[in-house]
Parts: sequence; C-alpha cells; structure tokens
Amino acid sequence: MNKSILCVIGTRPEAIKMAPVILALQKEPWANVRVLATAQHRHMLDQVNQFFGIEPAIDLDIMRPNQALTTLTARLLLDLDDVLEAEKPDAVLVQGDTTTVMAVALACFYHRIPIGHVEAGLRTWDMQNPFPEEANRVIAGILAKWHFAPTEGSRQNLLKEGIADTEILVTGNTVIDALLMSAAKELEIGIEIPPDKRLVLVTSHRRENFGEPFRNICRALRTLAENNPGVQFLYPVHPNPNIKNVAHEFLSGLPNFILCEPLDYAPFIAAMKRSYIILTDSGGVQEEAPALGKPVLVLRDETERPEAVEQGVVKLVGPNYERIVEEAQRLLDDESAYRAMARGVSPYGDGRAAGRIVQALRQHFAQ
Ligand code: UD1
Ligand code: UDP
Repeated sequence: MNKSILCVIGTRPEAIKMAPVILALQKEPWANVRVLATAQHRHMLDQVNQFFGIEPAIDLDIMRPNQALTTLTARLLLDLDDVLEAEKPDAVLVQGDTTTVMAVALACFYHRIPIGHVEAGLRTWDMQNPFPEEANRVIAGILAKWHFAPTEGSRQNLLKEGIADTEILVTGNTVIDALLMSAAKELEIGIEIPPDKRLVLVTSHRRENFGEPFRNICRALRTLAENNPGVQFLYPVHPNPNIKNVAHEFLSGLPNFILCEPLDYAPFIAAMKRSYIILTDSGGVQEEAPALGKPVLVLRDETERPEAVEQGVVKLVGPNYERIVEEAQRLLDDESAYRAMARGVSPYGDGRAAGRIVQALRQHFAQ
C-alpha cells in the first residue's frame, strides 16, 4: 500500500499546527507525503517551515498585499484545479479555518478527493464572529471525511451538526505537539526586554475588529502603558495593513511600548514564556498560553475555545476599552487575582495529537 497524502498549509498557524502531522506522516512507510503551500501568508509561513524543516513540494505563492477574500478564494480555486489534477492524492489534510482551508475543501470535494480536517468542530455559532473563519470551518466540516476534533466540546459541536460519530476522532490540538517539540530547543526573543520589568505581550489581527473595535483596543493599550511606566509592553504587529497602520498610529512613541514585526515562532514562544500576562485575539495563543501558565485576556466578545475560559485561566474582555484596562490592571495589581489565572493547565492537548491522527489514517488505508 502506497498512499499519497497531500498536506496543505496557507498561513502561519496552519504551518505550526500541521507541522507535527507532516513530520509524523513522513515516518510512515505507507505514506507518500506531499506538502502544498498556498502561501496565503508569505514570510510568516516560510519562517515556520524553516523552523520545522518542512519543504513544500508545491507553492502557489498566492499572497498579494491586502487582497480581498473573494479574489483570494477565486485565485486559490483556479490554481487548485491544476494541482489536484496533477497530484491525484489519495487524501488531503487541511488544518483550521482560513480561506485556504475552505477553498481546498471545496476543490477536493469537486475532485472527489477525501479530506481530513485537523482542528475540526470549533464553533461560536455566530457567522460574523470570527469573520470569515466561522463560515470557513463550517464549510470544511460539511465536506470533510475525517474530523480530527481537538476536544470533547468540539466533537459535541460536530455531532450537533449531524456529523456521524464514527467520522470524528478526539485527538487534542496539534498546537501542543508543536509547542512541546520546540520546548527542547534554545529559544530567545531577540529583543531586549529590561530584566527587572514585567512583560505584557500583545497580538491582534481579527477582521471583525477592523476599524473602531481595533482602535478601542489600541486606546486601551495606550492607557495601560501610560498608567504603568514600570511595565514593559511588546506587540509583534500582524502585517495586515488594516492592523499595522492603526497600531503604529496609536502606539508609537511610548517609552515602555515596543512595536515590532511579527516574531518568528521560536522567539514568540520565548516571549510568551517571558511574559507576565498576554492580551490577544489569536486562536493559537489562547491554546498555547494556558499550557505555559500565562493568564490571557482575549480581545474578543466570543471564543470557539471555551475550555480555558471555563477553567478560569482565560478571560474574554472584548474589544472594549474599559474592560481591557480594568482587567489588565487587576492582573497587574492584585496578586491573588493573578495567581488564580496563572495556573498551568492544558485543556487543548497532551502533545500526542499528531500520532492519533496518523494512526487513524494508517488504520483506514490498511483496510
Ligand atoms: C489569516 C486568516 C486568519 C488567521 C490569520 C493568522 C483568512 C481570511 N484569514 O488572516 O483566519 O487567523 O491568517 O495569522 O484566511 N501579509 C503580509 N505578509 C505575510 C502575511 C500577510 O504582508 O506573511 C499581509 C498581506 O497584505 C495580506 C494581508 O496581510 O494580503 C492579509 O493576509 P490574509 O491571509 O488575507 O489574512 P490575515 O489577516 O493574515
Ligand atoms: N505567533 C508567532 N509570532 C507572532 C505571533 C504569533 O509565531 O508574532 C504564533 C503563535 O505562537 C501561534 C500562532 O502564531 O502558534 C498563532 O497565529 P495567529 O495568531 O496569526 O493566528 P490564529 O491562531 O489566530 O489563527
């Protein structure tokens, strides 16, 4: 049995979370693993592949500055026709909820190629939040053959949508596999943080926050930095122009606030480890930070990752000026409130998710 498995990655988080699966599949004698990079992200994708030693066999180089979602989708579908025709894979694996995932799932469906969805079943049940990710993952879920759900909660979401129990496997999230793989390596932030200062780490990029909500986030960050001169802030700014331009307009020039380019994966893990608290709207960071024992304030009103919120180590503060300032200040001032949230819990995985995914595929193809 020699089966061709095409693993698709488009953006930074897909590359991070798919890496453990690709590396595990490469050890399987029956699997001919091919990696397709749509390169919906360019630099942010390349640095992750470099870190994990992954070389895509095919690269669509699809990223253009600030391109519209419709254009991105249309260009992906056109290019995918040729790739799927040439590759004729026995199975395609996608990860997460980006436009790459949605377009690849649709193209594979048209080409009658079975899809495995890694990180299946995350839902807010609100199509506008996060936008467009909720729609992307629902579409991928409708079309997938294998649903690799990270948690029991995500399995329940899929069952509610009528997905057969036999098609769902709870695996844990591969983000924890990746985190543990990197923990063995020497990690440096590469930016000087005053050793005596506590560090507040920030990331933000959600499309539903573009405009006034993101300005509110920036105003809150500015107030926090001004009110806490003894605390260092570090914000690796996402390159999406809708974020980058506003972040620089509101937050440049503060003595205790570093705005920098996106950090490569290893330096970013080092920054998370060095941080006191993390303010973010990232999905992946909501999963990683609890495993590292770092309190997280989520700059969104809803999350598809309720497990850490339920355990009290992640709190939703919205893109809301007052809530962000109040909750972050509480964590900075009140040690018992801080300690209650700074517990190392890992509701999203045990570092063995990729092994479970590969085992399921091995069993399927052996039959
Ligand atoms: C995308 C995903 C989002 C995911 C996020 C992870 C979609 C619609 N959005 O959001 O779900 O959470 O990635 O980071 O799939 N850019 C660069 N260099 C890069 C990457 C991006 O300059 O390496 C700029 C480009 O101008 C690009 C823009 O960012 O057009 C937007 O990129 P895009 O992939 O469309 O959306 P993100 O906001 O990055
Ligand atoms: N990350 C990184 N550098 C950064 C910010 C984040 O390497 O400057 C990593 C982070 O560790 C996590 C992933 O990128 O694994 C999350 O990606 P992002 O926030 O862009 O997307 P999301 O998870 O929200 O889809």
